[in-house]
Amino acid sequence: MSEIQHLIENNRAWSNEMKQREEGFFEKLVAQQFPRYLWIGCSDSRVPANEITGLLPGELFVHRNVANIVYPADLNCLSVLEYAIHTLHISHIIVCGHYGCGGVVAAMQRTSHGFVDNWLNDIRDTYAHRWEEIQNLSTAEERVDRLCEMNVIKQVQSVAHTNVVQNAWASGQSLTIHGWIYGIKDGLVKDLDVKVASLEQVTPAFRHIDLPTASGE
Ligand code: CO
Repeated sequence: MSEIQHLIENNRAWSNEMKQREEGFFEKLVAQQFPRYLWIGCSDSRVPANEITGLLPGELFVHRNVANIVYPADLNCLSVLEYAIHTLHISHIIVCGHYGCGGVVAAMQRTSHGFVDNWLNDIRDTYAHRWEEIQNLSTAEERVDRLCEMNVIKQVQSVAHTNVVQNAWASGQSLTIHGWIYGIKDGLVKDLDVKVASLEQVTPAFRHIDLPTASGE
């Protein structure tokens, strides 16, 4: 069987299995999707969002790019955020990075990798700000992994700084942004405990809207 043909064969088998597991499974999906979570993760093939969270089709809205970066000028990511919040009414956004991320490794190197060097600029920014702390770690692996964590923390903030998220909070929508990191070595997710769930938690300079009770801030 060819490299491609076996994917089609796999698909036939999967479709049959899902139909046997739950009658009317696909018919239900056609009618509507009700995911409660938005996943913003790395494109890395070793971090498949649905599998590692045990969620079925229809249960997770997914956006992936190299090194799970959220830029305020990225129309793709902003469109996903807006749709997830306004239309799907999701209540949790999970930014999930992973240890040993190739994008983070590339951002730490002084070699050219093509277009992606521009894409990774935000990670270089974090690296520059936390340079000493990272350099003080004893191994290259520790330095990469620490910057992987810092990148997730930064991107949680970037999501919180978008006006689409802040407008949702201002209108009373319940929305929590979580920062997670996944270990390729053991398949386990670690919660970095950097949740942001309200406008009050956003530093004033990054608020697009005044707090309802703001007093001359
Ligand atoms: Co990665």
